[in-house]
Amino acid sequence: MNLHDNRLQADLGYTLAPALHGHGYATEAVRAILGHLFRRGLHRVSAECDARNTRSARLLERTVFNLEGRRPEFTLNINTGEWADTLLYGLLASHWQKQEAGSQPTAETSGLQHW
Ligand SMILES: CC(C)(COP(=O)(O)OP(=O)(O)OC[C@H]1O[C@@H](n2cnc3c(N)ncnc32)[C@H](O)[C@@H]1OP(=O)(O)O)[C@@H](O)C(=O)NCCC(=O)NCCS
Repeated sequence: MNLHDNRLQADLGYTLAPALHGHGYATEAVRAILGHLFRRGLHRVSAECDARNTRSARLLERTVFNLEGRRPEFTLNINTGEWADTLLYGLLASHWQKQEAGSQPTAETSGLQHW
């Protein structure tokens, strides 16, 4: 996570060792750091990914980032000469807090009983 000097905005990036893919570890780590920073006043997080990187896009969508745009042919692969689109994602503190509130167990769903 690259936190801007104003500590209100940040850019997110991640890499997980291939042997650990497919278990939810990256999603759990991203959720933990987002929660930590939003509780401390962060306003917005931005993230970008190559449009062909479906694992990364799925991670961002699972962690409730919004797709904000697509830059056509933004990145050149110098080995193949192929241009790839870049997806732009963003997440605001207000959106994060809303989904967090929605996922908190209520007395009914948590099994707690009122006496
Ligand atoms: C991007 C990257 C971190 C995503 O890895 P990942 O393994 O898909 O992400 P997670 O660790 O969150 O695992 C999520 C997957 O585990 C599955 N999973 C299995 N058991 C799970 C569990 N108990 N809990 C949660 N998810 C679980 C999920 O269904 C999901 O798979 P799906 O996307 O096929 O539905 C990884 O592909 C990577 O390091 N890539 C190389 C670097 C890179 O591209 N970085 C991003 C640049 S923009």
